[in-house]
Amino acid sequence: MENTTTGRIIDGKAIAEQVLEEVKMAVDMRRRDGLSQPGLAVIRVGDDPASAVYVRNKRRRTEEVGMRSISHDLPTDTDEATLLALIDELNNNPTVHGILVQLPLPPQINAEEVIERIAPKKDVDGFHPYNVGRLVLKMPTLRSCTPFGCMRLLKETNEELIGKHAVIIGQSNIVGRPMALELLMARCTITVCHSKTYDLPGLIGQADIVVAGMGRPRFVQGGWIKSGAIVIDVGINRLDNGTLCGDVDFEAARQRASWITPVPGGVGPMTIAMLLTNTLEAARWQER
Ligand code: GUN
Repeated sequence: MENTTTGRIIDGKAIAEQVLEEVKMAVDMRRRDGLSQPGLAVIRVGDDPASAVYVRNKRRRTEEVGMRSISHDLPTDTDEATLLALIDELNNNPTVHGILVQLPLPPQINAEEVIERIAPKKDVDGFHPYNVGRLVLKMPTLRSCTPFGCMRLLKETNEELIGKHAVIIGQSNIVGRPMALELLMARCTITVCHSKTYDLPGLIGQADIVVAGMGRPRFVQGGWIKSGAIVIDVGINRLDNGTLCGDVDFEAARQRASWITPVPGGVGPMTIAMLLTNTLEAARWQER
């Protein structure tokens, strides 16, 4: 059946503002109750320009919700031992509740070693094997921010998720894998696709929910989308003319989708909102 309606937009910008307002209210209430002010340490190594923008936004938003922002900017030639020593110090500092090391790291530093060094209770990115393992076992603790944000966007549609076929494109540790675990926990049937997948359009055509997070501009064609599907676009690609676009051909996909996230203004703003949700949760976990 041909779908002639146009998909409704999932307004990530507005939903993120709502989440941040909820976090701010909870922080205010903590302080009225005499509990500690949550503190988030954000570490940046080197001068990757995209990372500089992301880190600046994280620090600004941290302060806007009434948390304490702790900044560490280290030079590009920082060795791994120096970074690990800083993490040890922050792990042992009771005024620091969350620790985030912005990725990517320079080549002399092993990101896995760094992630594993962060105390699981302070791992607000949700990247530590302990926290990922908890999600595997349907006992989530701190959850990876981007997939957690996508789940919040899906919740805001009020659509039933149970039993839906979710097709995830991309298998990264930051997006695809934890997204699959989140959707499985929500009782979806999941298919995870990647660059070696046979017949990607055929699989996407079977999806009730499409999550695109492989970082290829406008790769997912509108004609691949099943009529009435929900489309979540995690991609943020900068085109040569300076504009941003997602991994989905938005205008064409919108002609078939029931709901769709725009880029910018969809998943992007949710990541920081969920990071600060996690920082609040981390402060509570450390008080238990
Ligand atoms: N680089 C790109 N995305 C992320 C993220 O979610 N967390 C961190 N720490 N670095 C990133």
